[in-house]
Formats: sequence, C-alpha cells, structure tokens
Amino acid sequence: MNTKTFIQSAPQESQTPVAMPRTLVTGATAGIGRELALQLAQAGVPVLALGRNVQSLQALQDSSPRIATVVCDLSDIASLPDHAAQWVALYPDLACVIHNAGVQDIVRMDDAGYGAGQLRQEVDINLVAPMVLTQALLPHLQSKQQACVVNITSGMGFAPKRTSAVYSATKAGLHLFSEALRAQLQGSTVQVVEAVMPMVDTAMSQASSAGKISPAQAAREVIIGMNKGLSVVWVGKTRAIPVLRRLAPSVLARVIQRG
Ligand SMILES: NC(=O)c1ccc[n+]([C@@H]2O[C@H](COP(=O)([O-])OP(=O)(O)OC[C@H]3O[C@@H](n4cnc5c(N)ncnc54)[C@H](OP(=O)(O)O)[C@@H]3O)[C@@H](O)[C@H]2O)c1
Repeated sequence: MNTKTFIQSAPQESQTPVAMPRTLVTGATAGIGRELALQLAQAGVPVLALGRNVQSLQALQDSSPRIATVVCDLSDIASLPDHAAQWVALYPDLACVIHNAGVQDIVRMDDAGYGAGQLRQEVDINLVAPMVLTQALLPHLQSKQQACVVNITSGMGFAPKRTSAVYSATKAGLHLFSEALRAQLQGSTVQVVEAVMPMVDTAMSQASSAGKISPAQAAREVIIGMNKGLSVVWVGKTRAIPVLRRLAPSVLARVIQRG
C-alpha cells in the first residue's frame, strides 16, 4: 500500500482539507508526537491524540477541529485491548497508528535504586504497548482498504548506548518487530512503516548536547516518508546508518555512543 492517499497535502504544501482516515498518535502531548499530531491535522488528516496529560490533550484538541483525544497510560498493559476496542467503536474511521510514545532511563544496570519495576516500565511503554495495541487493532485495520502501523525507533536500536541499555534493547526490539510484522502482513492492506529517529530536541534528549534536529523537522520527515510510501523512514542523520552498519560498524558504534 502507498500511504499517499492518507496525506494528500504534505506539510508545507497547500493545506486543502480532505476526507481521510483517522490516525492514532501515541505520546501526542509533547515532543515529536505533538508535532506529528499538529502537522497531520494541518495536512487534513483526522487525528486521535493519545496521552496521559489531560491539560496538554485539551490544548491539542482546542488547536484544531481535526484532533480528538484519548487519555491512556500505556504502561497499564492489561487495559490496552479494552482501550483499543473503545477507540475503534468511537472512531470507526481509524486506519493508522503511530507508535510514538516512549521513555528513556539514563542509568547503569548496577545503579543503586534501579530496580525491576522501573526496568519493566520502560520495556512496557516502548515495546510491549506497541505490540499489544497493534495486535488489538489489527482486525480493525485489516478490515480497511488501506491502513498503516508506524513504529518510531531510534539510531540506538542499531548500535546501543551504554547509558541506555534497556532503552536501546527496546528500540532494537521494535525494529525487529516492525520487520517481522511487515513480513506477516505482506499482501494485506496494512503497511508497516519504521521511522528511525536521530537526536531530536525534546525533553527526552535534554541530557545530550549533540547536534539535534527540531521535533517539527522530525515529524515533517516522518510524514513525507509515509507520503512517499516508504517502509523505513531514515530521519536526518540516521540516513547514514544502513551504509555504516555494512561498511563501518565500529564507526556507527562510536557515533551513537558519542550522541
Ligand atoms: N528525542 C530524541 O532524541 C529521540 C531519538 C530517538 C528516538 N526517539 C523516539 O521518539 C519518540 C518520541 O520521543 P520524544 O523525544 O518526543 O519524547 P518526549 O518529548 O519525552 O515525549 C514522549 C511522549 O510519550 C508520552 N508517554 C510517555 N510515557 C507514556 C505512557 N506511560 N503513556 C502514554 N504516553 C506516554 C509522553 O507523555 P507524558 O507527557 O504523559 O509523559 C510524551 O507525550 C519516542 O519513541 C522516542 O524513543 C526520540
């Protein structure tokens, strides 16, 4: 499937409102997710913005008549199938999900006070929630003529950062999940897209001083990539990853470690 029909006016092009399927954006209250929600709405796409912060969700909803919102804590894994059933009942036009929400603990495994509960929460939000939500939404998505699942991964899913062992592992997991899901759904109406993020200037990357792109630029590149029907959207400097992985993996490892 080519998602071209989803987003008939890419960001920065003429903004003609058109009837298009609704897109669920998780983690839409801040950073890249907020930009994705705003830019999609601006391009004419009805958005279902998911988050925990009610005030931020209200502000998003007030900013555009195309944005509806749902309050959901993605770490509450057991509740997600019921949430998904409610969303498709309320928004039967839902045909795309962008798994954007994420957290990153910058910590060593032997740090005092870093326990299994915190570790498990990071894995749940970054990896288990996208898997469980995808599974719950899949029958609905497969009933659509065109649908998509978009997973937001990271350069750290291709080479790990020592201060973010669990985070790197969740992003590597989401990368492989994207590949396996794409293979499973080959020939179906559901396109699986992976968007690989470089350093983006958000709350998550506050501790890093490396060259960052703006969340607006990151969101724009994801939407343009979806618009082109790409399976993998290499955002910003991550475009170098496929070549570095093949020809200079030690350079890739150093670059990610530095970032
Ligand atoms: N920034 C970077 O440099 C960078 C690099 C590579 C990949 N990424 C990826 O890009 C995605 C977006 O990151 P970002 O930089 O925009 O991060 P961010 O500014 O910290 O925003 C994260 C979003 O996820 C939401 N979220 C966190 N835990 C949640 C939960 N339990 N339930 C529901 N929502 C939850 C947050 O909502 P609350 O406000 O409620 O916490 C927030 O809306 C993530 O998947 C991240 O791993 C980012």
